[in-house]
Amino acid sequence: MDNDLSNYRKAYQKGSLELNEVPENPMELFQKWFYDVEKNFDEGETNAMTISTIGLDGFPKSRVVLLKKYTEEGFIFYTNYNSEKGKAIAANPKVCLNLFWHGLERQIIIKGNAEKIAPNLSDGYFESRPDGSKLGALASEQSQEIDSRESLDLRLKELEKKYANTEIPRPEYWGGFIVKPVSMEFWQGRPNRMHDRILFALQEDYSWKISRLQP
Ligand SMILES: Cc1cc2nc3c(=O)[nH]c(=O)nc-3n(C[C@H](O)[C@H](O)[C@H](O)COP(=O)(O)O)c2cc1C
Repeated sequence: MDNDLSNYRKAYQKGSLELNEVPENPMELFQKWFYDVEKNFDEGETNAMTISTIGLDGFPKSRVVLLKKYTEEGFIFYTNYNSEKGKAIAANPKVCLNLFWHGLERQIIIKGNAEKIAPNLSDGYFESRPDGSKLGALASEQSQEIDSRESLDLRLKELEKKYANTEIPRPEYWGGFIVKPVSMEFWQGRPNRMHDRILFALQEDYSWKISRLQP
């Protein structure tokens, strides 16, 4: 098989990013960019982000999760703590998040440390989920092998019966991680591959060093 994609080419011209126009705090810029995408280019899942972890096998692995909250402290997503990513984070909390919004030709790359959020916060979010999603979290031993789709569907059916008239509890193996950033890079596509890249790096005094990177 030989598929040549060298003619895929795009001119980036939707915006620019200047050092003198960025705020001191990268979370403010994150918020602005997030709103820009929601307002100007609704891709449906603006909050979809790729998280890369270093696995127990030594390989990096990336997969998409949904950003459910961001605060001054960091970026929160929910998952199964026993999943492949959960185990990877337990062994090495250093992760990388990536958000690419092609409508505005923007990318944000966040390096940070992931940690479990407090159980009561995971409870609060779990309670807000529809019953189907709650049962899905209970039914799936995420990332484990299973013999068939039918076995999985059967598990769900059994759980539906079990919890027909009772509240569905959050399993203790399911909850949120917060990724606390140590660096955040904002990438804005520009013509002729002369893209803007502004890097915020957290310093020892917790201020952010801001610099421009070559494209
Ligand atoms: C759009 C999208 C959103 C997703 N959101 C989540 C999520 O919020 N949490 C999650 O655990 N998996 C989510 N997934 C599934 C993950 O990509 C992945 O398959 C799963 O977490 C298992 O990954 P692991 O085996 O590497 O731990 C999502 C996938 C897609 C495509």
